[in-house]
Amino acid sequence: MSNVVVIGTQWGDEGKGKVVDVLAEKASVVARFQGGNNAGHTMVVDGESFISHLIPSGILHPDKLCLIGNGVVVDPAVLLQEITDLQERGVSVGPHNLLVSENAHLIMPYHKLLDHGREKLKGDKKLGTTGRGIGPCYEDKVTRRGIRFCDFIDPETFEAKLSLIVPEKNFYLRDFLKSETVDEQSILEEYLPYAETLRPHVANVSLVLSQALKAGDHILFEGAQGTHLDIDHGTYPFVTSSNTVAGNACCGAGIGPTQIHSVIGMVKAYTTRVGRGPFPTELHDDIGDRLQERGAEFGATTGRRRRCGWLDAVVVRNSARINSLTGIAITKLDVLSGLKTLKICTAYEYKGDRLPEFPSALRVLEACTPVYEELPGWSEDITAVKDESALPENARAYLRRLEELVETPIQIVSVGPGRHETIMLQDPFDSP
Ligand code: GDP
Ligand code: IMO
Ligand code: MG
Repeated sequence: MSNVVVIGTQWGDEGKGKVVDVLAEKASVVARFQGGNNAGHTMVVDGESFISHLIPSGILHPDKLCLIGNGVVVDPAVLLQEITDLQERGVSVGPHNLLVSENAHLIMPYHKLLDHGREKLKGDKKLGTTGRGIGPCYEDKVTRRGIRFCDFIDPETFEAKLSLIVPEKNFYLRDFLKSETVDEQSILEEYLPYAETLRPHVANVSLVLSQALKAGDHILFEGAQGTHLDIDHGTYPFVTSSNTVAGNACCGAGIGPTQIHSVIGMVKAYTTRVGRGPFPTELHDDIGDRLQERGAEFGATTGRRRRCGWLDAVVVRNSARINSLTGIAITKLDVLSGLKTLKICTAYEYKGDRLPEFPSALRVLEACTPVYEELPGWSEDITAVKDESALPENARAYLRRLEELVETPIQIVSVGPGRHETIMLQDPFDSP
């Protein structure tokens, strides 16, 4: 038995969906442990593209159990829509292969209004959230006003909790945010049928995981967002509202740290970011535009254009430490084909000095300039390459340099969006 966590090392969209879909082949269980439908994870199988926001990216394998852990915040309407969309495309989804933790918190209509209202109020100081109500839902969880799935499927508890919270939310929405308000009765009418439909999916996910552990099954934990969007370790306040790092796989799913054997850090071969916030290697030139176009860098959730820049090894090294990475999965190497010269940021300069590590203070980070190392590019199309030795020499040198800078071995190289456009150097489930 071997259990693997997959997390993003940058600012999200590193290709977690693709790699989880590939690794799911070997696992029996795939579990999400944080975030919500702010995530957009893309899987491409036989030329068909699927984007998953809440359902774990193992769902396209018919025999895998997909779990949504207690650490995830769930918009029930989105979950039901995602189930229906998959079913309409011939994917089997039911309580036999998809369970939601009874402790997972519910995203309510007022969370979305609060998210939008706060962003509007901030004007040009906005964070650029996905507007899905993620932050306000986690806020209610921490201030002990949230509604969990076990409350949701018990109509009496649900109604009691709702009638306590709606007046407070409306006060804030109406009087502070000058926003539209919510109507308790309409929420009940909308949400009670959702609860009935989802009831068979609600389970004690921690218990289900412990049974899988006892059976010796391989378990794959699927992170969302990326380490630099983590609420504690990211570029605060330009972050999401959950812990996106590997350590949260335990808290957010209900297992202990001794059950994690490998942590795979997803690295895009360059860097992207959606939404606002510092981004030292961001490019505002033709090369940035080229990465954006060739990489089709549009948000899988909001459709926003992703900001693009060179690979930042300071960022990845920071993630290697915070997550105790055992391996790297690098994606989108194919997008770099055709660039004469590539740059990797190896350090930051701040007021004339080299900074040894990624800084926490936003003002310092914003004033940092990247120190680049240049490497020669390659011109070959590499999407059909199945073996590392068949990669152009300069592509191999680029990978080796990243490994050196981050002091972590590359285990997977992705050269295209499709399931089979993957070079497996070391299977994470075979790691000791
Ligand atoms: P996630 O949020 O980390 O799962 O990543 P997204 O799905 O939001 O964004 C990654 C995008 O890159 C998706 O459109 C994937 O289909 C695509 N992708 C993943 N790996 C590769 C790759 O190696 N090459 C190319 N060209 N596209 C890839
Ligand atoms: P995946 O899992 C990229 C960003 C938003 C915004 C910030 C806060 O697909 O990698 P939120 O709605 O979470 O309060 O927004 O976080 N963000 C993501 N960026 N990929 C994601 O998920 C993201 N989820 C949130 O753009 O800057
Ligand atoms: Mg994404």
